[in-house]
Order: sequence, then C-alpha cells, then structure tokens
Amino acid sequence: MSLFWSVELLTSPNKLDFDIIPHAMPLPKRKRIRTFMLLFCIVTFATFLFSYTFRDPSLYFFKYAFRLPDNLFSKGACACRRCMAEPEDDPWFTERFNLSIHPLMTSGNSLLSDDTFKWWQWLQAESHPANYTEVVEELFQVIPDEALYADGSPERCRTCAVVGNSGNLKGSQYGDLIDSTDIIIRMNQAPTAGFEEDVGSRTTHHVMYPESSVDLDNTTHLVLIPFKTLDLQWIISALTTGTIKHTYVPVTSRIKANKDMVLIYSPTFFKYVYETWLDSHGRYPSTGFLTLLFAIHICDKVSVFGFGADQFGNWHHYWEENHLAGAFRHTGVHDGDYEYNVTLLLADKHKIQMFKGR
Ligand code: C5P
Repeated sequence: MSLFWSVELLTSPNKLDFDIIPHAMPLPKRKRIRTFMLLFCIVTFATFLFSYTFRDPSLYFFKYAFRLPDNLFSKGACACRRCMAEPEDDPWFTERFNLSIHPLMTSGNSLLSDDTFKWWQWLQAESHPANYTEVVEELFQVIPDEALYADGSPERCRTCAVVGNSGNLKGSQYGDLIDSTDIIIRMNQAPTAGFEEDVGSRTTHHVMYPESSVDLDNTTHLVLIPFKTLDLQWIISALTTGTIKHTYVPVTSRIKANKDMVLIYSPTFFKYVYETWLDSHGRYPSTGFLTLLFAIHICDKVSVFGFGADQFGNWHHYWEENHLAGAFRHTGVHDGDYEYNVTLLLADKHKIQMFKGR
C-alpha cells in the first residue's frame, strides 16, 4: 500500500472515519486532526527505525520486548547487530580506525619503512641486530606465511573476548561468558587452571613476547609481539633448535606450541597503535592494549575483561595472592591511565563492551 494512498484514506472524509474524532466537529478541523495523527505515526515509526538501525541503546527495549533478531536491521558490514565499522560512524573512531594496516606480519607486508624500522629497533635498543630481511625469510620457512582474518563479510559475526590479567577478574564469575565467544585471546603469563570460574578455560590465541612466554596446547595460536629482530630469531629457535636462551634476561629456550599456528604481530601495526590510538603516550603500548587493537581489527564484536589497575594504580594480576607481588609500579613503561581512558572511550562509543569485574 503506498504512502499516498494511506494519506488519501486518512485525510478524505468520505472514505474513512475514526470514531475517536467526534462527528459533530467541523469538517476542516477533523481533517487537520487526521493529518496530524498520520504525521505523528509516521514520525514515531521513522524515529524508532532510525534509532534502532543506528543502535541507540535506549531503544534496546524494542529488541527485547518484540524479540527482534540480532541482525534484523544489519546494515551489511557484518552479521552482528552492531559491526566494528558502521556507515554513519563516530568521527573520533573513523579518524583512527584503519583496516588497511593488517595486524599480522606476512612476507608480503614484512618490509618496514625506514621510520618504522628505526622506531621499532629503538623500543628495546637492540645493539647489534641481525639482518632483518634474512631473519624474516627464515621465519616464514618455519611458520605459515598466510594473511589470516582478512575475511570480514555481511555473513560473519565473529565475537571475541580479550582477557587482560587484572586482579579485578578475581571472583568475577565471567568464565562461562568468556568461554561462549568465538575467539578468546589471553596474554603473557595468564593461567586458566584453577581460575576457570572467573576467567574461563578456552584459549584460541595467546599473545606473548620472548620474556613473557609460556607453553601452549596444540590448538592455540601463539601470537608473538616482536620488539626487536632478536625476538623473531627467538621464535625460530624456540620452535626448532633451542639455541637462544637469553635476550636482555634469560628466556625459555624451547616453547611448546603448534608451529603451524604461530602468528607474528606486525611492527607496522604496532607503530600505528602507538601513534594513532595512544597519541604516542608512554614509551610503547602494553600487551593488553596491543591485543585490544588486534581484536578490534579482526573481530565484529569485542568484549573486554581483566583491564584496570588497582586503587593504587598498580597492575596487579588475578593469580597473585599478594596482589603487589610482581605488579608493575604504576604500569612501568606504559601510560596505563591514558590506555585505560582510550579503552573506556571505545566502550562509550559502543565499539567494545567492558566487563570491569569486582
Ligand atoms: O601484566 P601483564 O602485562 O601481563 O597484563 C596483561 C595486560 O593486561 C596488560 O598489558 C594490561 O593491558 C592489562 N592489565 C590491566 N590491569 C591490570 C593488569 C593487567 O589493565 N591490573
């Protein structure tokens, strides 16, 4: 039925009459009331449609009241109710979000600009680096050289949990919620055994660097964040000969991990996260912040757990009894406050969902 036909019906006194408008009322006045009612209905419906489509949380009521499916008004970027990139997006987010920089290194994007290479080598001031190009070449003879996760589509709704190591996970009971997501990313020394109720038990990706490395099972992706050329040499060695035992501290010489599932965090992406998302605050981003941006670039829906310092500004860990043992005093080389504020801003803009624990 066309809109014009409806207008005609409602505004013509001969075709349709409403009982709620008294017949004694003069005809022009009745006509005006009908027209007003019609316009009111159209505006209300359009507002609902617009707000729901643009995901105004105040209208989530409709979704639950009428049991509307997640993707009823999906706009096409992905199959979730909200997608990471939306057509009418927040300007702060769109200015920063750059899908053309891939988070993972392949031989295709491994070549670094002079600027990036200098910045990257400066991070941990490597004094006598090996030949980067030769190391990368050797690396991709040991691990797969594949561009994973460049598969966003209107059919995909990839849900991810980024699990930081904060003590606020203790007693949170988030385990089942974390385990229910498609991708579960943990980091550094994070254990799950004994903490399942709060942190879950599944891990699809474990992010680490040589000095924070742990053994993994055969089904988990090891995501290495390299801070120097030696870190790339370390992963080759740790998966094969075990000859590298020391970086700036003693490191695990052999790691238990499926070498066909090893992924390397791209130095170009690393610099992009630091400059674009942190406005160059701190010396470099924390593992948690780098992981969060990795997730934002490969997932459609990101839930964040285990982020947040304690009341003294220390990064305590959920597995530590004495919560100051091993905690960074005021987050070390990272600007923990700035990172946390950006994380909260992302949540505020509905790009991620934050679970703050206890
Ligand atoms: O301490 P660690 O670096 O292993 O923790 C992993 C990440 O979890 C950190 O890089 C940080 O982003 C986050 N974290 C946090 N608050 C804490 C502990 C860790 O936000 N109390």
